Amino acid sequence: MTEIFKGSFTQQEPIPDAGIAAALEVMQHGRLHRYNTAPGEISETALLEEEFAATTGSKYCLAVASGGYAMTTALRACGVGHGDRVLTNAFTLAPVPGAIAAVGAVPVFVGVTGDLVIDLDDLASKLDQAEVLLLSHMRGHICDMDRLMALCDAAGVTVIEDCAHTMGAAWNGVPSGRRGRFGCFSTQTYKHINSGEGGLLIGDGAEDMARAIMLSGSYMLFEKHRAAPPPEVFTRIKYETPNISGRMDNLRAAVLRSQLRDLPAQAQRWNERYRVMENGLAETPGLHLIPRAEKEQFVASSFQFLLLDWSGAAVAEVLRRCAARGVELKWFGGAEPVGFTSRYDSWRYAPSEPMPASDRVLAGIVDMRLPLTFSLEDCALIARIIRAEVSAVWQRSAAADHSAGV
Ligand SMILES: Cc1ncc(COP(=O)(O)O)c(C=O)c1O
Repeated sequence: MTEIFKGSFTQQEPIPDAGIAAALEVMQHGRLHRYNTAPGEISETALLEEEFAATTGSKYCLAVASGGYAMTTALRACGVGHGDRVLTNAFTLAPVPGAIAAVGAVPVFVGVTGDLVIDLDDLASKLDQAEVLLLSHMRGHICDMDRLMALCDAAGVTVIEDCAHTMGAAWNGVPSGRRGRFGCFSTQTYKHINSGEGGLLIGDGAEDMARAIMLSGSYMLFEKHRAAPPPEVFTRIKYETPNISGRMDNLRAAVLRSQLRDLPAQAQRWNERYRVMENGLAETPGLHLIPRAEKEQFVASSFQFLLLDWSGAAVAEVLRRCAARGVELKWFGGAEPVGFTSRYDSWRYAPSEPMPASDRVLAGIVDMRLPLTFSLEDCALIARIIRAEVSAVWQRSAAADHSAGV
């Protein structure tokens, strides 16, 4: 009997009861704006910032409207502006080059390796082209951060980390987002904590964070922040920093606080699902699993594999066959960007030299969400379906090659 998967790849878990109760309380008192507090009250947003700073070990934290907003704010706070060039990953999602474009700067793309991380050799060769790197830990794959920081420090290049897919993850014990001058997180629905939309920005630089807080639209109410530098730091910058509103509100913060407490347990559940997928697909002919470094403590809310050097038609056939059995896969090699799968040559506002080695990898990347609504049995079933369909197409192509005398 042909097995079919019936679950939804876009269905997240419900908001925990504690988050619903906290959100109800905010709605009942009506003070949704982060600076609208009763005497002596600390807003949910300020508490979330304090708790996220404590979780990551950063000195400061600012909650904002989205991950994209966190990145543009970090870029602005670092002084990036019109016409500046900013290094970033060729393999990432559209909001990353979009954040660079939003401040009038120009992305310079750096290649991707078969481990789905930034190509550090390519980066080394491009470090003289920009003063800032917006490093995207795309799909939760973390490069050798020790080597990356050594390269960037030696070249005087500032690193801003896009941690949209690495909340709760670490490299060599250092939480993701703590090596760069800023770490930028998203709390959009498909991320590790979910408020529909939202973002968090962390860092240790007092003046950096004062600027970010002013930029986010704090009016002159910055003293209501807690994970923030002291008021005298604001005195230096408050008249020269524009207000570009992008605050978080108390409703979303209330929804997020209990999820943040649950994050370590949730990370473990994601990784259990990832390992079931990995085991189920091990040694499938023609399919490459992505190696994970020992120093990488990842949170696997998605799963990728490579169909390296397959023809486009054969990959498309795998996707079609899997879809017919209920397994929704995304492909970064398609001619047209679809949904979340755009890549560097899709962003034509930022022209780039072709990168053949990266193109080869991108053409083979198959990507899948791993929502926590999937059970371990669901993951085993999905892996069986992918394994069967990849094998069927692989064997047919091998047979065709054989009869053509290739
Ligand atoms: C890699 C990556 N970076 C940044 C973002 C931006 O997050 P947001 O959607 O909250 O703006 C996303 C969102 O999908 C993302 O996938």
